Amino acid sequence: MEGGGKGVTLQLMMAVGTAVIGSLQFGYNTGVINAPQKIIEGFLNDTWNNRYSEPIPATSLTTLWSISVAIFSVGGIFGSFSVGLFVNRLGRRNSMLIANVLAFIAAGFMGFSKLAASWEMLIIGRFIVGLYSGLSTGFVPMYVGEIAPTSLRGALGTLHQLGIVIGILMAQVFGMESIMGNSTMWPFLLGLTFIPAVLQCILLPFCPESPRFLLINCNEELKAREVLEKLRGTEEVGADMQEMKEEARQMMREKKVTILELFRSPLYRQPIFIAIMLQLSQQLSGINAVFYYSTRIFEKAGVSQPVYATIGAGVVNTAFTVVSLFVVERAGRRSLHLTGLLGMAFSAVLMTVAMALLDQLPWMSYVSIVAIFSFVAFFEIGPGPIPWFIVAELFSQGPRPSAFAVAGFSNWSANFIVGMTFQYVEVRTQKQLLMLWLIFVLHE
Ligand code: GLC
Repeated sequence: MEGGGKGVTLQLMMAVGTAVIGSLQFGYNTGVINAPQKIIEGFLNDTWNNRYSEPIPATSLTTLWSISVAIFSVGGIFGSFSVGLFVNRLGRRNSMLIANVLAFIAAGFMGFSKLAASWEMLIIGRFIVGLYSGLSTGFVPMYVGEIAPTSLRGALGTLHQLGIVIGILMAQVFGMESIMGNSTMWPFLLGLTFIPAVLQCILLPFCPESPRFLLINCNEELKAREVLEKLRGTEEVGADMQEMKEEARQMMREKKVTILELFRSPLYRQPIFIAIMLQLSQQLSGINAVFYYSTRIFEKAGVSQPVYATIGAGVVNTAFTVVSLFVVERAGRRSLHLTGLLGMAFSAVLMTVAMALLDQLPWMSYVSIVAIFSFVAFFEIGPGPIPWFIVAELFSQGPRPSAFAVAGFSNWSANFIVGMTFQYVEVRTQKQLLMLWLIFVLHE
């Protein structure tokens, strides 16, 4: 049964499209420090030199750079954990609107850091845009999940991920040396984050509040129905209203569920465990080692044009997110996620082999490109999009904000660990690979 126009309408797409500008911001700031790493390291070095009249020691440079990269996810941890403070008071749409203040402030800090010769401003800006992104990873999937017809929740939920990957790709392209990844333009590259913020501030007032929020949290039945009719493009929204009312009744019983109760109550224990595991597996797969550091990885793997390989990874990433858009409602969430993780593990092994054999066989640099591309492709088949929208699917209105906070917190904490430690682990692993190789050669 159709249950009243379960299709895609212009209103719905406009609302989803506007919301995922927040996802685009998250992606943009994930990818933006990748290509211009060397250039910005040059800025760190110059600033250090001016302050202390000596070149920056290598370890301090690694530390300062890793902090500049990973402080973004510290912001994300705080942001995602605060989602619950906003969504029930201000509503979903207004929360998204207000968060843009953070994007503006962050753009200011990052954009003027060079002028002020201050890496502190760069780091603070990265932290604030991380706060914004953390909030977005709660607000956007929640809003989209609540306005989407049930049959399209997966596909529309994947648009959050599509926004992220397009943001990453844009950052990679703009980060090319000939565009903005050079010593004069890099502050613009980082400051550019204010443009999507302006766009979202203009468009959001034309988008409706989530009908679930209107009905269940504000008890505004008429308004909820009105919004729903617009979103569905039909007056026959009886089935949807019925479903929401059922959820409202359930919420009367369960009230607002706190984070602690999520873990205590047997009702929520399994879903919250699933949500956390999905988020952890997404991040601990190491995907962001690629999106934060791929230019350096490719360089070390002997690729002659590492920035182009990085952009290639962004293109593959976007293409496979589109593929996922079409398969997600057909195949099960579980099998897609597992297939993705398995494929990633296989690709990681291939990458290790390629790196280990690079000195012997220079063409291994091509194998490493293939390995990273397939790593990214498998990621987008399941582990990329699913963890974000599954939270809205697993939880009803009462526990939803707390569940988003816990899921987001798990995601961003793991994101931080990868971002912060990758460069250190990488050096180590390389030494170990070298040793293994020497042992092997000597043995021969
Ligand atoms: C997911 C992850 C994010 C990652 C992106 C890569 O959205 O949450 O951390 O950068 O995928 O496409």
